[in-house]
Amino acid sequence: MSDELLRYRSEFPILERTTYLISNSLGAMPRGVYDAMKSYADIWATRGVRAWEDRWWMLAAEVGDEIGALMNAPKGSVSAHQNVTTCQAVVASCFDFSGERNKVVYSDMNFPSVMYFWEAQRQYGARVHMVKTDDGVTVPTERLLDAIDETTLLVPVSHVIFRSAYINDAKAIVEKAHRVGAHVVLDTFQSLGTVPVDVQALNVDFACGGVLKWLCGGPGVGYLYVRPDLGKKLEPKFTGWFAHQDSMAFETGRIRYTDPPFRFMNGTTHIPALEAARPGLKIISEVGVNRIREKSKRQTAKLITLADQHEWRVNTPRDPEKRGGTVSIDMPDSQDVCRELLKRDILVDWRPKAGVRFSPHFYNTDQELEIALAAVEDILKERAVLAR
Ligand SMILES: Cc1ncc(COP(=O)(O)O)c(C=O)c1O
Repeated sequence: MSDELLRYRSEFPILERTTYLISNSLGAMPRGVYDAMKSYADIWATRGVRAWEDRWWMLAAEVGDEIGALMNAPKGSVSAHQNVTTCQAVVASCFDFSGERNKVVYSDMNFPSVMYFWEAQRQYGARVHMVKTDDGVTVPTERLLDAIDETTLLVPVSHVIFRSAYINDAKAIVEKAHRVGAHVVLDTFQSLGTVPVDVQALNVDFACGGVLKWLCGGPGVGYLYVRPDLGKKLEPKFTGWFAHQDSMAFETGRIRYTDPPFRFMNGTTHIPALEAARPGLKIISEVGVNRIREKSKRQTAKLITLADQHEWRVNTPRDPEKRGGTVSIDMPDSQDVCRELLKRDILVDWRPKAGVRFSPHFYNTDQELEIALAAVEDILKERAVLAR
């Protein structure tokens, strides 16, 4: 079958040397990053401090818009940060946990950093309610919805679960939260770039993620979407001079907030990481998330079929509509198998309660999936011989 997305393979040097199935962790680096970094250095070297005016000051807003375009966010509604944890802190700092409405509802399938952050907010008055998974794969939606009540302030949840690739019912969560006056912080790290995200259709309050996985943008850039009507009135207490109406006036005392996106930023922005993020964002926007999603559903189904042939446990939903871009397979001795795969330049990772995570992206061939799972079979056979 012809696969027109494979024409992008030559844009990603690492694909020539490895079987790269780890875009859930770190997307492959686009060739264009070499030029972006060279140009960053040239601008710094030749323009010096004038680079701020020429290009750097607005860069965080421009990259925010490029990310926003991928999730149907209106221009100016996405601010750039270092990572998701920082985005949670910015959101938390907009709210007061000392009143009656101080409950934070989340799932134990959230990414741990997000849990650690919210658990730590107990000392500021947050009442944290964690909803536990029954099967280690899915989030019990009904129980999560029941936990969201009139005292709930915030619901920080993942759109796609990092362990299992389960797609949370974001629409139902947002609807319930809004019915009782709570706000949802949707972590789209494992969705944006592989599963369609439309923040306006979801009517979600906040969405955040990073660019280093499915967006092939490298480490150092997180993003935060704030619903425009909230963006006009919220006042983050985690703030700084980039959020001031007139940063260059260097006023003393209390901040006068500017408009989004800078309203939600704080100190000096992370220019090199923002520059490195752009080539990946450009490619993803050119390829289009819908085409990526179609291919991903087909390739993840193929991985499940291959795993089934060996009767290896699959810790990922079988329903393609409920499944993101990763297939977690817990074959016998999966952690050791993962180490062996890495030695063979088959790049995957292993997570507790998940197994080996295989994450094909638009640049992977079907043959690479076969190579990876044949290698697993081979490794297990070798181990069985050695154990005899
Ligand atoms: C769903 C999800 N959220 C957050 C993170 C990481 O958070 P941070 O950007 O704060 O490192 C990851 C993985 O790295 C993730 O998979």
